[in-house]
Formats: sequence, structure tokens, C-alpha cells
Amino acid sequence: MKQRKMLVTNALPYANGPIHLGHLVGYIQADIWVRFQRMRGHMVHYICGSDAHGTPIMIKAEQLGMSPEQLVSDMRQQHQQDFAAFHIAFDNFYTTHSPENKQLAERIYQALLQRGDIERKIILQAFDPVKNMFLPDRYVKGTCPKCDALDQYGDSCEVCGGTYSPTELKNPVSVLSGATPIEKESEHLFFKLSHYQDFLREWITQGHLQPEVANKLLEWFDAGLQDWDISRDAPYFGFPIPGEVDKYFYVWLDAPIGYLASFLNYCQQHPEIRFDDYWLEQSTTELYHFIGKDIVYFHCLFFPATLKGAGFKVPTGVYANGYLTVNGKKMSKSRGTFIRAQDYLQHLDPEFLRYYFAAKLNHRVDDLDLNLEDFVQRNNADLIGKVINIASRCAGFINKRFDNRLAPSLPSHPLLKSMSDASEEIAQLYEQRQYSHLIRLLMEFADKANQYIAEQQPWVLIKNPETEEQAYQVCSLGLNLFRLIILYLKPVLPNLAMKVEDFLNIAPLQWSDSQTYLLNHTIKTFMPLMQRIETEKITAMQDSTEHEGVRQVME
Ligand code: MSP
Ligand code: ZN
Repeated sequence: MKQRKMLVTNALPYANGPIHLGHLVGYIQADIWVRFQRMRGHMVHYICGSDAHGTPIMIKAEQLGMSPEQLVSDMRQQHQQDFAAFHIAFDNFYTTHSPENKQLAERIYQALLQRGDIERKIILQAFDPVKNMFLPDRYVKGTCPKCDALDQYGDSCEVCGGTYSPTELKNPVSVLSGATPIEKESEHLFFKLSHYQDFLREWITQGHLQPEVANKLLEWFDAGLQDWDISRDAPYFGFPIPGEVDKYFYVWLDAPIGYLASFLNYCQQHPEIRFDDYWLEQSTTELYHFIGKDIVYFHCLFFPATLKGAGFKVPTGVYANGYLTVNGKKMSKSRGTFIRAQDYLQHLDPEFLRYYFAAKLNHRVDDLDLNLEDFVQRNNADLIGKVINIASRCAGFINKRFDNRLAPSLPSHPLLKSMSDASEEIAQLYEQRQYSHLIRLLMEFADKANQYIAEQQPWVLIKNPETEEQAYQVCSLGLNLFRLIILYLKPVLPNLAMKVEDFLNIAPLQWSDSQTYLLNHTIKTFMPLMQRIETEKITAMQDSTEHEGVRQVME
């Protein structure tokens, strides 16, 4: 097989709040994909970082009495720890507030400017006369102009669903100072997205995107591509726009450029990897972005257009994941379902979340639900009851009766061969991100393996000297079946796989090992690999979330 060279990114989390379980959907999805590609022998660079800029981070830092730089650096460290704990193994976790990103953002902007893609326009915007700053829509609240609902945001009403501009709100107030905002003119810079209409239409329909995403984008096309406002007035935490006074790049201009910057920073630490091989227009490497569904517009319209304009490579694939609900509803602090990564980690093994997400994820943009009761049941039944059970039923005999050594030959049984033969089918499912499908297949294999052991009853065979050899064979086969299931699950459960590699006394499993068996081989003593989840752990986890008021546990 030809070795592919790939660069994979995850969305850069905002550096103004903790990582929660909703975020983790996309990071776990991508990490599984990266680990799978590496097991296949491909070269993958996996990149992420903090999204540092914008008004919310500036305001939050101010409230905490620290500089935005300090806030970003603290959050970045926390996020890095959370991702590592969930075995999300980025090669580089950088920040958009970096010299590399500043330089790249300026370079891209200059290229667009020279091509005539930047236009100036005067706009009217809400301005806080006390704070002396322009207010993003979300920082103005007031009465809905359509249904008179009180206390609604400046861009849309949560009661009637109406959308409008903040200047239309009745009785508007600034969220920051409580003052009544005034309307003020300001000159902004716009990127002419419409210049890239033909390029984008073609790119969107070339199979780089999920079909439902492509269709949604084409609907936006039909509505007409709007110019994109890429400047913000001071005060703003971001990069100053070259040649302008008191103007900054809008956070979403430099945020995706952060992928390039994080990779550039990585290349500087690894001189054997060349930035140009991955980002220049003519390069033959592959480029993939994993993102949540809410940020498709930025990644599938603005970003490819700016890359194209500046002579960079456009993505090979952009894959969007759906939104996570907990117990069927949007995560909520009042229900104890706003679960931060830290709340989870205090009580539960991170691999249970990886397994649960894998069991529910597919290649589409569908939302997925974390039902906490189902989470307990599913992990216990599949991982403890099916997968690990195979080993715990076979290992003891090999350890105690056969001197830790697997049999030199195995009984001919169709299950082992059919599991080996499934390797390409399972690989395709990983490649296409159809994780729930492949998990179903693997659990069917685990069921069959358990069934085989139950039928053979090695614990009975072992008691009779005449059938002792048969017990030996059955247990050796059982451990070979176990090894294959763990191999196929390794992208999802890297830590479990590592423990099993140690127990089986083997080198790290690669995909091609699915075509070999373990014969006449000395293993180590079997130790418990994972603990069942007790329901009390879930209750305890919900108690440690930042909750408000009364709530029902496991409703
Ligand atoms: N900073 C931007 C991304 C910039 S990429 C150049 C951002 N940050 S975020 O912190 O709000 O979100 C990080 C990722 O988590 C995004 O992909 C987002 O879609 C995803 N999710 C946030 N909440 C989520 C759920 N409840 N469920 C699933 N994914 C969610 O967006
Ligand atoms: Zn309304």
C-alpha cells in the first residue's frame, strides 16, 4: 500500500471556557481517525491550538483582572491537559495569538488586497458610550421588535425565533455597562466572497464535503454570497490590520489561519517536515479539517476562498459532526448535564466516553445523544461483558496450566479466519468515519467468540486429562480472537490496547497484524483491564458539575 501523507486538524477551541463533553465529540472523532490512519502505516500530522482572539476573551480577561494573553495561556494549558487525559494526541497544540499566525494572516490579507478582494464600507453599529466601544450583536439586549419578548439578544429572539439587527431592538441596553447604546458609523473592510463564487461552487460539489453540508451550502449560494466583514474597531484583542489605524482582523479571519500557523510552528521543531509540502497549491499531500456543524460556513466558504486567493492548498475534506445532547436535551446547568471534561475525569475512565461516542458516530452530521443510563449499560455490556470477558475466561488456564504459553497450532475454526478477512471492510468503515457500523460488527464478533467458548466449556475440558489438550486449543484460539478484536478497537481504545499488548507480550499492534496469529508464544499474567461503571459514579459526576437549583438525576 502506498503511504499517504496527511495533515489533520480539529477546530480550535475558544480560550475563554472549559472543555465540555459536547466539544469532545469532534476531538474524539478525529483522534480515532488519526490513530486508525497511523495503524495503517500512513504519515499523519495532527494539529490543533487555542482560538485566542475576539471580544468575549477580551471581556472575560478584563473581568478576571488579567491580560488576555495570560487568560489564553492559562486556558491553553488546561485544554491541553483535558485533551491528553482523553487520549487525544495532537502533535502540536499552538495558539492563534502567535507570531507565526500574525505573519500568515498578514500575508493572506495582503494577497487578497492585491487581488482586489477587499472593499471598504461604512456601517452603522451599536456603540456603548460608557465603555467607549462598538458592541457585537450578542452584547446588546432588549425587547424583541417582533413579539415584544423581554431580555432578548441583539441578533435573534429565543421566544419567536425572529432575527433582526441590534438597532431594531426596543429598549436596548449594553450587556457590558447597562447603558443605552447609540448608533455610530464606522468604516469596515469587507472580503468579496462573491469573487470566488465559481471556484467555491465547483469545490463544494467535488466530494470534499458531506452531501448534506454541500446541499446546505448550495442553498446559501442561491440566496447570494454576501461580502464578509473582516475588520473590527479598537478596543479588540487580535492582530492590527496592516496599513490601517485602530482596526483589527475579525477573530474568524485569523482563526482558521491558526491551522497553518500551528503546523508552521510544528515544522520549526521538526525540520524534516516541510510546511510547503502540506500547504502549497500544487502539493499532493492530503488536508482534512474536523469541525462542528455550527462552523461550516466559515470552513467551507470563507476559509477555502481566502486560501485559494492567497495561493494555498484547499482542503481535501471538511467533516462536520453533529451536536451532543445529554439525556435527550441540550446540555444544561440546571439539569446537571453541563458536564465539563474535568467533572467527567474525576469519576470515570475516559475510554468509556470514547467508546460510547464511537458506538454512536457516523459519517453524517446528525446530532448524538449521551443518555447516561445507556452509557453505563452499553459500556458494561460491550466492553466488560463481551470483549474483556473473552480474555478473562481463557487467560487463567494458559497462565496456570500451560506455563503462560499459547498453543503451537490452533483448531481450525471459521471465526478466526473470518475476523482476519474482515480487516479491509473494517478499515473502509474507519476511513469513511462509519464508526457505529464497525462497532456493531466488532460486537457481533465478540458475541460469536463468547458463544464458541461457552459451547466448548474449557473449564470442563480442563478437568479431564483426555480433553486437556482441547481446552488448551480452545483457550489459545480464544485469546487470538481477543487479540484481533482489540486490534480493531485500538483507534477507539488506545489505552486498553496498550494494556492488552503488555499482557499478550507483543509489539504495538499495527493493522497488518490482523493477518497473523499468535502461536507458541509466551504471555504474561492476566490482570483486570477495566472496571465496570457503577451507577453511583454518574450521580457523583452530576453532583460535581456546576449546577443550579433542583434537578433530577438520570431522568
Ligand atoms: N473557536 C471556534 C473554532 C475555530 S476553528 C478555526 C469554536 N470554538 S468552540 O470552543 O466554540 O468549539 C470548539 C468545537 O466544539 C467546534 O467544532 C464546535 O462546533 C464544537 N462544539 C461545541 N459545542 C458542541 C456540542 N454541544 N456538540 C458537539 N460539538 C460542539 O467554535
Ligand atoms: Zn420575538
